[in-house]
Amino acid sequence: MIKINENYLKLQASYLFSDIAKRVADFQAANPQMEVIKLGIGDVTRCLPKACIDAFHKAVDEMADDRTFRGYGPEQGYPFLREKIAANDFQDRGADISADEIFISDGAKCDSGNIQEIFSSNIRIALPDPVYPVYLDTNVMAGRTGGFKDGRYEGVYYLDSTRDNGFIPQLPKEPVDLIYLCFPNNPTGAAISKDKLQQWVDYARENKALILYDAAYEAFIRDDSLPRSIYEINGAKEVAIEIRSFSKSAGFTGIRCGYVVIPKTCIAYDDKGSKHGLHSLWNRRHTTKFNGVSYPVQRAAEAVYSQEGKQQCKERIDHYLRNARLIRNEMTALGYECTGGDNSPYIWVDGKTDSWSFFDEMLEKAGVVCTPGAGFGKCGQGYIRISAFNSFENVKKAMSRIREALG
Ligand code: MLT
Repeated sequence: MIKINENYLKLQASYLFSDIAKRVADFQAANPQMEVIKLGIGDVTRCLPKACIDAFHKAVDEMADDRTFRGYGPEQGYPFLREKIAANDFQDRGADISADEIFISDGAKCDSGNIQEIFSSNIRIALPDPVYPVYLDTNVMAGRTGGFKDGRYEGVYYLDSTRDNGFIPQLPKEPVDLIYLCFPNNPTGAAISKDKLQQWVDYARENKALILYDAAYEAFIRDDSLPRSIYEINGAKEVAIEIRSFSKSAGFTGIRCGYVVIPKTCIAYDDKGSKHGLHSLWNRRHTTKFNGVSYPVQRAAEAVYSQEGKQQCKERIDHYLRNARLIRNEMTALGYECTGGDNSPYIWVDGKTDSWSFFDEMLEKAGVVCTPGAGFGKCGQGYIRISAFNSFENVKKAMSRIREALG
């Protein structure tokens, strides 16, 4: 008899963003005259940078000629891209990461969901609350949690991120093995300082734990004192894996490209306490289950690091940060306490009411889609997340509608 993975039965009914998309579609069907402005899911609206498009076209043309055609590429990614990443994203910032410690992938969502496969099912995970749901749901699927009770999964150590701690969680008070951190944070938009991140690295080293550091939003950091990579922190290369994405920095949400960094010095233990390098484990997993990102997409990603590519990406991020500033200023002027929006495309708004009711009110009265904070965890209750990914005109229009509806 074929049997299911019963861990799936512990999951909440549907993935957060699918649930929201359905509610918005139902609302639009019932109110066809209403033009809805989407500031919900963090999906970019600006087109790909010209430098990337040119490289993309050129690579597609290469595929049309037997002499330049490429079939299977290296599963870990082409050296031309891995070398650019190592030099620009790490070595230029003083982080000693080499090209062969980088694994190109089809995006940070897949990487952050897949990476847990190389760890024992008996480890204890620590997750921020609120949290990007992928970290949690993939561990539920893998059987690392108990059932869902009072808004939380049993067996998980939740790292509360609240107004009281400035949305930067405290170190765990009980032993944990795998720690998920994301900065600038999704959903709160909070950014971590080097000193605070050093405390986490020190904790991981002292407790033989591992940090999974999601830096998908690092390109939004404008405060130079903040770390863009965990490898800017002393000792991180033994205890941290970093996940990055071209989605939000270069508009790759639709064409898919990201990467994972696993330093060769990064280790975990077997049941007998012997050390094992995680780089070779992930390499084994990656080469078995993945055939690499397409050649044209990797050429487009490489162009992000050209002079023009850097300029065009920066211009896009400046655009979203301008939107973020407007959203934060407007919501603050309406009397709502806000976090994020300065080094992040997300603004975390304390609505002081039930998150889903606030979501409904924004949609029904202003025709604006946001994301209810409660969808990211218990500590998100009362909050909404507003995303800055849209045109400036739409954000201005959304803010004026919100002012009218809620002001
Ligand atoms: C979000 O809105 O939280 C993100 O777009 C989700 C993602 O990147 O998968």
